[in-house]
Order: sequence, then C-alpha cells, then structure tokens
Amino acid sequence: MQQGLYKVLLNEALTQNVFKMILSGDTKAIKGPGQFINIKLEGFFLRRPISICDYDEKTITIIYKVVGAGTLFMSKLTSGYELDCLVGLGNGYDTTSCKQKALVIGGGVGVPPLFALSKKLISEGKSVDVILGFNTENEVFYEREFKELGCCVKITTVDGSYGIKGFVTNAIDCSYDYFYTCGPEPMLKAVYGATNTSGEFSLEERMGCGFGACMGCSLQTKEGTKRVCKEGPVFKKEVLLWEK
Ligand SMILES: Cc1cc2nc3c(=O)[nH]c(=O)nc-3n(C[C@H](O)[C@H](O)[C@H](O)COP(=O)(O)OP(=O)(O)OC[C@H]3O[C@@H](n4cnc5c(N)ncnc54)[C@H](O)[C@@H]3O)c2cc1C
Ligand code: FES
Repeated sequence: MQQGLYKVLLNEALTQNVFKMILSGDTKAIKGPGQFINIKLEGFFLRRPISICDYDEKTITIIYKVVGAGTLFMSKLTSGYELDCLVGLGNGYDTTSCKQKALVIGGGVGVPPLFALSKKLISEGKSVDVILGFNTENEVFYEREFKELGCCVKITTVDGSYGIKGFVTNAIDCSYDYFYTCGPEPMLKAVYGATNTSGEFSLEERMGCGFGACMGCSLQTKEGTKRVCKEGPVFKKEVLLWEK
C-alpha cells in the first residue's frame, strides 16, 4: 500500500451519472487487477473506496457512479486537482486460477475492475467471454473497450433496450473453466447460483480505514471472519456462505 498525491488528468462523463477519471502518480504499489484505491476528499471524514479499472507505470483509471455527496464532489473535479489516495489496497483477482477460458461477468459499476482483469487474462493467452449487465441502454459503458482488448462481449439490459433482455445470468450460455465477477450483491448471488465451476467474487462493504486496521468491513466466511478491504475484496466461491 502506498499513500500519495495523484493529479487528475481527465474526469469525464461516460453516461449521465458514471464518470471516468484518470489520475497520474506512482503506481508501484498496485499488484494486479481487482485492487482498489481509497480517496480522501476535502470536507469528508471517510475516504471513498473505488476499484482500479486500468493502470500503467504512471496512471490509474477509475470509473465511478455518482450516488452521494462524495462521488458528486469527485464528479466536479477538474484537471490538475490533486487527490490524496491510498493505492494498491486489497488482494485482487488470481488469474492463475483460470487455465484457458474465462467467463467475466460485471454489473453496473462492478464492470470497472474487470477491465484490467480481462486485459491481464488476454495477455496470458486465455480467451475471455465478457457479460456486462445494465438496467437500460443509456447506462451502457465500456462495450467497445472490452471488444478492443479481444474479448467476446455480450451486453444485457433489464428493459431489453440494448443487447440481450434480462439479467447477466440470462446470457451465461458459453463454456468456461473459471469465472470472475463484480457487481451488486443480488447479481453476485444470482451468478453464484447460475455457475457450475469455481470462480471469484469481488464484494463491496462500507469501509473505515481501507487497509485492515479497524475491522469495519468484516465478512463471515466458511474460513472465519475476513476483512473485505484486506483479505478481499475478492473471495473465491468456495469460501462464501451463500446458498445455491
Ligand atoms: C472495494 C470497493 C470498490 C468499489 N469500487 C467502485 C467503483 O469502481 N465504482 C463505483 O462507482 N463505486 C465503487 N465502490 C462503491 C463506492 O465506494 C461508493 O459508491 C462511494 O463510496 C459512495 O460515496 P458517496 O459519498 O458518493 O456516497 P454516500 O452514500 O454519501 O457515502 C456515505 C458513506 O458510505 C460509504 N458507501 C456508500 N456506498 C458504498 C458502497 N456501495 N460500498 C462501500 N461504501 C459505500 C461511503 O464510502 C461513505 O463512507 C466500491 C466500493 C468498495 C468497497
Ligand atoms: S475498512 Fe478497516 S479493516 Fe477494512
């Protein structure tokens, strides 16, 4: 983990309330896809945890939805503004668990961490089928970006205005040897029930410190109490106390 100042290079709307922000700064602490950053915002007590969507030696891309005062504040930041961030938090996805064919399933703002994940899986020579679920057509983002990586992409919308009508689980009709997912909890539970291989889930929990010190993000698992910010946010299917 590393704390530092990260300069806003770009902050633009992808949809009506989802924004893409590119930050420049030291990225050495990032170990892999699925990790997150924790952002201090002027005038707010708690930092805001946001997944890393993409990164290179000098930049971090995040995608966030405006849901409250903190993310609204973020959406108004302009280029040059410096944000105090904790970087390289959490465990991230394990790409070695997938041998050949990955199924990657994202819903809404659960989609971002799956971008860097898909990029890594493809760089390791694996084939990647991606299912991205949204409520409606004007909420869809990153379809082209996933296609440009070389993924086979299916979009689902609940109202059927774009892609396959229904939920992400309506589009699971391919073969795969391992899956990775991130999204709202009802979607994750539906994916848990609809998949027949092992896989990994990225979970969200309200956080205090974000680096394992306060136990504010505790989760009961088959292996005892885990901290979502430290032992997670990614958990293997087998350890979750969910039911099919
Ligand atoms: C590991 C992790 C990764 C995340 N990645 C993303 C992402 O890539 N894109 C994205 O849009 N959102 C992501 N979230 C959710 C994001 O943290 C919240 O939407 C954001 O903190 C809301 O802040 P707010 O001030 O706008 O909302 P408010 O509701 O005003 O926030 C009040 C408090 O609740 C916390 N909070 C509110 N919603 C959530 C939530 N869903 N999860 C955790 N804490 C929450 C806030 O951090 C804050 O401390 C992630 C959450 C976690 C835990
Ligand atoms: S948020 Fe403090 S231990 Fe996870």
